[in-house]
Amino acid sequence: MRPRELQEGVFWVGAVDWDRRLFDELIPLPDGTSYNAYLVKGTEKTALIDTVDPTMATSLKENLKRLQVTTLDYVVVNHAEQDHSGTLPQILQLYPDAKVVTTPKCRSFLVALQLAPEHRIRTVEDHETLSLGGQTLEFIHAPWVHWPETMLTYLQPNKILFPCDLFGSHIATSDLYVTDEGMVYEAAKRYYAEIMMPFRQVIQKNLEKIKGLPIDVIAPSHGPIHRKPEFIQEAYQDWVYAPPKNLVVLPYVSMHGSTKKMVDYLVEALVAKGVTVQQFDLPRTDIGKLAMALVDASTIVIGSPMVLAGPHPHAVYAAFLANALRPKAKFASVIGSYGWGGRLLEQITSTLSNLKVELLEPVLIKGYPTDKDFRALDRLADDIVQKHEEP
Ligand code: FEO
Repeated sequence: MRPRELQEGVFWVGAVDWDRRLFDELIPLPDGTSYNAYLVKGTEKTALIDTVDPTMATSLKENLKRLQVTTLDYVVVNHAEQDHSGTLPQILQLYPDAKVVTTPKCRSFLVALQLAPEHRIRTVEDHETLSLGGQTLEFIHAPWVHWPETMLTYLQPNKILFPCDLFGSHIATSDLYVTDEGMVYEAAKRYYAEIMMPFRQVIQKNLEKIKGLPIDVIAPSHGPIHRKPEFIQEAYQDWVYAPPKNLVVLPYVSMHGSTKKMVDYLVEALVAKGVTVQQFDLPRTDIGKLAMALVDASTIVIGSPMVLAGPHPHAVYAAFLANALRPKAKFASVIGSYGWGGRLLEQITSTLSNLKVELLEPVLIKGYPTDKDFRALDRLADDIVQKHEEP
């Protein structure tokens, strides 16, 4: 994709990765992604804000060539992760006078991960500014979104925020700006769930930090640019601050149908009582969808049969994922069927140790469910409804 001008002297120079389908060899990317890098040309100095994934280095270098950038003064590195800093060594080689501008913490990451030459790195303090002539960059330290070294860059007087990963979305699109809000909302929520949610508490502090900052444009490093910043800011307010909703998330696996029968019964009982349920058949599910559902859930119920004296590995994976993502959920339970003994419950609950959830009485049964088991599931549904109604 060729360079595109956002405002006078401010250009998108990144890369669109239409075909990438997995991030970190873990996170599904159904819609690809982009690595947005930006060029800011002041009257005196020129700065590149972030680079791109090293697999797309050619796109960035071609774009700088198309804009006839023969001299680069600064490369601002908001975040050391390789999808944004991976092309830094090539850029430093191409522009031997360019200095890296980053946080002190990021400096050590760049030296370790990119073997960046230390003498070319200039560290900046929180809120330090750098004039480019007519335009000024302000660096706002924002650790843990989602690595410890992260910062946001704010361009004055244009009122453009370059927040790197924060407010991003994994979408490959030819549109520079958000056009389809529904599509971007879904992708941004998936992105938040998978990448930012574990750091919700510290993200609250960073959102507070930029509250009151006049922002006309949010230009993240993944996905389309926000010309209506309130759209993504309001979404983050909801995801980060709002209490969990009247929603049960039910990831399950069933080998021979007994656990599935219990899942079906519990889901119907909950829905009849006005609770929204999202169920996920774990061997076939998109874990990004499960992560998204966890953003709003009040209760997580994990359904698993007993296998090899413990929970099914798919159920352990779901519990591990929920534990790692640290959603707002307040309650949890376990349902499932066994043929003989094992440590299903202990292993699932110990895997959820990060979550501050109250365990609602599980329903674990021998064999195929019978009437008494359905009554136990009714009782669990009643417990959930009662807990969701508590203030
Ligand atoms: Fe898009 Fe944390 O890298």
